[in-house]
Amino acid sequence: MALPPFLAACRREPVPYTPIWIMRQAGRYMAEYRAVRARLGFLELCHDPDAAAEVTITAVEKLGVDAAIIFADILLVLEPMGVGLEFVKGDGPKIHRPVRSARDVDALAPVDPAALDYVYAAVRRARGGLKPDVPLIGFAGAPFTLASYLVEGGSSHHYNRTRAFMHADPGAWRALMERLVDALVGYLNAQIDAGAQAVQLFDSWVGALQPADYREHVLPHVRRLVGALRRDAPVIHFGTGTAGLLEAMRAAGGDVIGLDWRVDLDAAWARVGEDVAVQGNLDPTVLLAPIPEIRRHAERILGQAAGRRGHVFNLGHGVLPETPVDHVRALVDMVHELSTRR
Ligand code: CP3
Repeated sequence: MALPPFLAACRREPVPYTPIWIMRQAGRYMAEYRAVRARLGFLELCHDPDAAAEVTITAVEKLGVDAAIIFADILLVLEPMGVGLEFVKGDGPKIHRPVRSARDVDALAPVDPAALDYVYAAVRRARGGLKPDVPLIGFAGAPFTLASYLVEGGSSHHYNRTRAFMHADPGAWRALMERLVDALVGYLNAQIDAGAQAVQLFDSWVGALQPADYREHVLPHVRRLVGALRRDAPVIHFGTGTAGLLEAMRAAGGDVIGLDWRVDLDAAWARVGEDVAVQGNLDPTVLLAPIPEIRRHAERILGQAAGRRGHVFNLGHGVLPETPVDHVRALVDMVHELSTRR
């Protein structure tokens, strides 16, 4: 059987049309998701393999996308560290015992990959329930982005505490990165063992860093992480606000570099090199516009990709909760139609 288009594109092999999936494709903009959330809290849903698999599969069936992403959250891996993770309604995630010193780093519990068995169970169930030609993506937060939640104690705008911690105590920062990488290697390889056919590293907030700090305090750790992953699942390395970091992110690793909408796809691809695939990069707010405007942007991005091997269409960041589902479906159909190789 030919490789499904998403996996072929990750490997820069020829595809019949440009594959597309949507970051946060299972989420609050979808009525079916809201119905599940009416009976289960967010963490309850993540902890329930049947419910997580169902949400994963429903999104693919609703949208007609070329890949599924397992329903979970980047912060789940922090739970077994013993920092007190909670999702507060309307307020986002909260870490009750934030990491602010070398002692706090030492106090973090090492993560036994088995503590996240419920995620691997969801991967197995989703893989079993999806059509065989729909690849399943596993994922994790990248070490910087996870550290930002640990240090800030929740979401942040400028990551001042995180950056200050890195500068004030580089030894403790390194120890924190090393612990996160140790946990992530076991977690991601176990997702691949369970049936994930690609994995995405979400370094969502790494754009807060100046390039020199990324190279010194983040790159070596991401490189060790990517180097320790099973080679049979392509790695998508994604971040936002990364216009200053693209070459360094590429050097850190990944088969596919995820681009946000603040860069032109063609210029960014030239910078990371055409020997790597790229994913992106529609501005999520374009999906709030009328369909002809969505089409104009999709045509532009496909024009910038210019039919080269190794483009996975996606948004530049997660789909917004106020997005009409019909607009997402229309985007999926138009990307397929506009990119079909004749
Ligand atoms: O893409 C998918 O469909 C898979 C599921 C997925 C979720 N979170 C579900 C979720 C994925 C891939 C994530 C990743 C994630 N989680 C990231 C990186 C992606 C990105 O957007 O950059 C981050 C930063 C998180 C942390 C997180 N989780 C925050 C800050 C929040 C609260 C803010 C918000 O959007 O509500 C969450 C909650 C969360 N994770 C929701 C979903 C569907 C919404 C929770 C709800 O149902 O109320």
